[in-house]
Amino acid sequence: MTAAKLNIVPFVSVDHMMQLVLQIGVERALTEMASYIEEDFQRWELFDKTPRVASHSHDGVIELMPTSDGTLYGFKYVNGHPKNMRSGLQTVTAFGVLADVGSGYPMLLTEMTLLTALRTAATSAVAAKYLAPENPKTMAIIGNGAQAEFQALAFSALMGVETVQLYDIDPAASQKCRYNLAGTGLEIKMCASGQEAVEGADIITTVTADKQYATILTDNMVGAGVHINAVGGDCPGKTELHKDILLRSDIFVEYTPQTRIEGEIQQLDESHPVTELWQVMTGQVQGRKSPEQITLFDSVGFAIEDFSALRYIRDKLAGTGLYEELDLLADPDEPRDLFGMLLRKQQQMADGQ
Ligand SMILES: NC(=O)c1ccc[n+]([C@@H]2O[C@H](COP(=O)([O-])OP(=O)(O)OC[C@H]3O[C@@H](n4cnc5c(N)ncnc54)[C@H](O)[C@@H]3O)[C@@H](O)[C@H]2O)c1
Repeated sequence: MTAAKLNIVPFVSVDHMMQLVLQIGVERALTEMASYIEEDFQRWELFDKTPRVASHSHDGVIELMPTSDGTLYGFKYVNGHPKNMRSGLQTVTAFGVLADVGSGYPMLLTEMTLLTALRTAATSAVAAKYLAPENPKTMAIIGNGAQAEFQALAFSALMGVETVQLYDIDPAASQKCRYNLAGTGLEIKMCASGQEAVEGADIITTVTADKQYATILTDNMVGAGVHINAVGGDCPGKTELHKDILLRSDIFVEYTPQTRIEGEIQQLDESHPVTELWQVMTGQVQGRKSPEQITLFDSVGFAIEDFSALRYIRDKLAGTGLYEELDLLADPDEPRDLFGMLLRKQQQMADGQ
């Protein structure tokens, strides 16, 4: 993708993103994006890192998620409003920018609602590669909303999961999920309770949306050796697991300062030990140590994952034409003559051009 002029910024709409992802293939996109995420986690230390900037309100949160590797800069705007679904709106929507650190010029503006679902699922599967029990075949998914199918496909493509056990307080969500996953080769089991969903599961994914300290999993639901992929607890006052589960698990996080604020571990003392995922990926710390160990990926979503997703889309866009050219940046003939550019426009308008 080469925009003719630096002031013209490629923009990927939702429609173009859907075409791009379908051209690539959803499973392949998840797998390739996962390798971009792994690559960036391997070079974790050179990134600028900060907990995301969150603006909380009664019904939800709006967040900005910036990071840079010194060459590229990326940020995402994302919201989380669990009540939105009841009025026909998405719980999570997002867009983002990739920019050139050298000039400061944006290089890409894109929708990131679909991209967030893809990158969240890809990150979950990457974490599971290091933490889940060997050869997992069955995964429970509790919370069958917008993120759920992406999670199922990522675990199928990257981990070889064959059976998905679905539970949602709203049976219509599980029906939707089963319908959407028909034809993927996954065996789908519909469950009447969270307890039923976790029975026989090697991996438990919780991905519900509720703005409260919820208890999606109680201690008795989690047996030895299970890997928990806790995705839905990602805000202060918004968690999914009973505290006792945390006390029995080895906990892995993205970026500790952000997860202490937003993750399941907000329920624990600040000094409770956790391991950052990049340390496992770089071989500094062992992931799963024994078949009996309970591993917990306390996922909240970190800026570097979005950066990886933005890099991936930039690379995949080349030659596809699946973007619009946005006249986003002022470009006077002489850089200091910004006002002159305005005057020339005034003249053109007066001349009826
Ligand atoms: N960690 C991350 O990186 C990350 C990324 C994206 C989204 N999220 C979070 O994941 C969650 C799900 O997002 P989504 O876009 O799929 O939301 P969504 O609103 O589309 O779906 C949520 C589903 O959870 C169900 N649910 C709510 N309470 C439940 C309960 N007690 N038991 C079972 N099911 C329950 C709802 O009925 C709904 O179907 C949100 O909380 C969101 O903030 C996290």
